[in-house]
Amino acid sequence: MKIPTRAYWQLLQRYLAPQRGAVLLMSGLLLASISLQLTGPQVVRLFLDALQAGAGIPLLIRSALLFIGVTALQQVLSVGATYWSERVAWTATNQLRADLTAHLLQLDPSFHTAHTPGELIERVDGDVNELAGFFSSFIVQLVGSALLLMGVLIAVYWLNVQLGLAFTAFVGLTLGLMGRVWQGGTPHWQADRECSANFYGYIGEVFTATEDLRASNAMPYVLRRFFEVGQRWWPVRLQASIWGQSVMNAAIIALAMGEALAYGMGGKLYWSGAISLGAVYLVLAYTAMLGAPIETLRIQLQDLQRANASIIRVRELLAIRSKLTGGAERLPQGALGVEFHAVTFSYQEQPAPHHENAGVEQAVLHTLSLALKPGRVLGVLGHTGSGKTTLARLLFRLYDPQQGAVRLGGVDLRDVQLSALRARIGLVTQDVQLFEASLRDNITFFDATITDARLLTVLEQLGLQTWLAQLPNGLDTPIASTSLSAGEAQLVALARVFIKNPGLVILDEASSRLDPATEALLDRALDTLLQGRTAIIIAHRLATVERADEILILEQGRVLEQKSRQQLVADPNSRFTQLRRIGLAEVLV
Ligand SMILES: Nc1ncnc2c1ncn2[C@@H]1O[C@H](COP(=O)(O)OP(=O)(O)O)[C@@H](O)[C@H]1O
Ligand SMILES: [Mg+2]
Repeated sequence: MKIPTRAYWQLLQRYLAPQRGAVLLMSGLLLASISLQLTGPQVVRLFLDALQAGAGIPLLIRSALLFIGVTALQQVLSVGATYWSERVAWTATNQLRADLTAHLLQLDPSFHTAHTPGELIERVDGDVNELAGFFSSFIVQLVGSALLLMGVLIAVYWLNVQLGLAFTAFVGLTLGLMGRVWQGGTPHWQADRECSANFYGYIGEVFTATEDLRASNAMPYVLRRFFEVGQRWWPVRLQASIWGQSVMNAAIIALAMGEALAYGMGGKLYWSGAISLGAVYLVLAYTAMLGAPIETLRIQLQDLQRANASIIRVRELLAIRSKLTGGAERLPQGALGVEFHAVTFSYQEQPAPHHENAGVEQAVLHTLSLALKPGRVLGVLGHTGSGKTTLARLLFRLYDPQQGAVRLGGVDLRDVQLSALRARIGLVTQDVQLFEASLRDNITFFDATITDARLLTVLEQLGLQTWLAQLPNGLDTPIASTSLSAGEAQLVALARVFIKNPGLVILDEASSRLDPATEALLDRALDTLLQGRTAIIIAHRLATVERADEILILEQGRVLEQKSRQQLVADPNSRFTQLRRIGLAEVLV
């Protein structure tokens, strides 16, 4: 894949324009330091010629001091240039990292199912790292090296036209050769980045699953796979490096030939009396100096090659759009009514069209309809895999149904702004993700506008003040992902939901892993949480749906029963009554 030059400019403009001043300063310093490089040999040449002409000691000392001064100044300039280019590079790449992270966070769940967290980390960090040089010094180094090359050539022409012509031919050949070798490299570097992302993706998976892996003694298999993934990477990396190395070898050989040329021609011209000894020195020094810009060009081109691969991947990533776009409708205040109208949903985006019954067979929900009035509590029961969690995901609009409509407060979810929608629904699931942060930040999600007073009120309303009092540092207690019990984690999740003041609360098997004491605590908290709100309680156990006004029994994505709890209890033939008689655990799990 080839990148349009426009893409380079877009990237550079977007991330360098905000730091125009720093970029200018950096360029100035770099160019000044490069041009000083040309001055050093001129001083030595003056010195040598003066020596030959029989100049006195004071002149020699003066040229020595001048030489030291020029060299020192050049070093100072290049330190400054390095400082500023690092600054520019870090500012630009951090911004790019932030943009990529924000972009990834708003992508659909189907994208995140297809890409592991480790792979995404590699893309947000690894790919962006490769771009650091591109942002900071690439252009300046390129332009600077080209200027230095031209400066050398002009100086040589000025000395002697014959020499100038020979040098020009030599530089042209060298660059052509390097360009030829360089061109073949980009696809190899791209493949290298790909392998690297896979590799880190795999490591990420392994570390996310350490507990399960250890429990099932799967270490040897995991490590074996680790080697396989690494093994696939290494020939690719080898190829890419060989391309890079070949460019360097070509450059070194070319430079050796250049030096031979300079010695030969310099000697000949000196003997014929066309140039002075100082001039011979100048030619030799400049030839040696040619190595630097050619080497810089080589490194920059190799960096660009790696950057190219990263730019392609970064652009691919940014080009992925969320399939879910919202509208401008508002949701009503207060408790929200819920309606599923003939919803058919499948996780597979495009069911194979040639297949008979395509889409229906793979569907998780089949023309499912349900209605729940504002303020009512619905208990949902059903076997594992019957589609209970899918109901919750559709309400959150993590996916859109293929047929039918989901409405909240009478508004089709597709017409509501996504963030507004999600702000009005609270979800508590079995596995609560906790951050390595204080209890406060874990409840507020780092939103500093939520005051402690409000937090304390919420915890008190949920009946959690005694629990809070047990914690060593109250709201400041650091919460590592392992230090809370499953039940306590769920209490944190309840507080998170409560603080949003949602119009609809969904509990997805939230209480299925709790010890009786915490469950009692949770129960009391729920009394408060559900007041004045619509709620959907997805449960494994009958006890959990005791508080429900209505019961829905799902079977393979279809509604088996939906009635008020009293009605179902009164009806001896209802499935619900049967379940109560046999005990839910045996029937549903
Ligand atoms: N992200 C997903 N991608 C593909 N299929 C899924 C996904 N999540 C769930 N399913 C499938 O959808 C069906 C219903 O799952 P789910 O709603 O989680 O059931 P429940 O919560 O009732 O146990 C199951 O057959 C499951 O395999
Ligand atoms: Mg589920």
